[in-house]
Amino acid sequence: MKQIILFALTVVFFGCGGSPSDSTPSEKAKPAAKKEVSDKGIGETKHVELNNPLNPEMVTRGEAIYQMKCAACHKLTDKRVVGPGWAGVTTKRKPEWIMNMTTNVEVMLSEDPAARELLKECLVRMPNQNMSTEDARDVLEFMYDNDAKVGGE
Ligand code: HEC
Repeated sequence: MKQIILFALTVVFFGCGGSPSDSTPSEKAKPAAKKEVSDKGIGETKHVELNNPLNPEMVTRGEAIYQMKCAACHKLTDKRVVGPGWAGVTTKRKPEWIMNMTTNVEVMLSEDPAARELLKECLVRMPNQNMSTEDARDVLEFMYDNDAKVGGE
């Protein structure tokens, strides 16, 4: 009996961040009212201008914020801790979506389809981290830097 419970927990644990295809869409999706569904997410960030090459000062600031406010739940690999690991997040999501997830997490978790899907897998609501748009932009720069490292050479 105990073993069965442990097994179930293991499945839940490793299920987070995996392919969303095997999660049950049985839960009736709340209609997103008249808000447009967009892969840019919901929030004040409508457009992000990316830097190429990356801005090293922003990366450094972003990393400091990451260590302080995000590292407890997010690893830089694809390993989940509480939330999904960040490896590959910049290729999986639009930069606008990431910024809105960072600054407007409550609304995203209730109304954005991709965020709701993650919540179903992770079973923990990411708390509001009181992030300004500037701070979120720095962390985004750090995410791109991380993906260049884990994905690249
Ligand atoms: C207390 C744990 C916790 C902290 C701290 C936290 N998050 Fe999260 N985060 C989560 C969880 C859990 C999810 C998955 C969605 C859900 O279940 O709420 C998530 C999801 C995300 C996602 C989407 C990832 C993906 O694969 O699409 C982004 C982006 C994100 N968080 C950014 C941040 C940033 C930036 C910070 C720091 C400023 C942060 N998070 C701090 C728990 C946390």
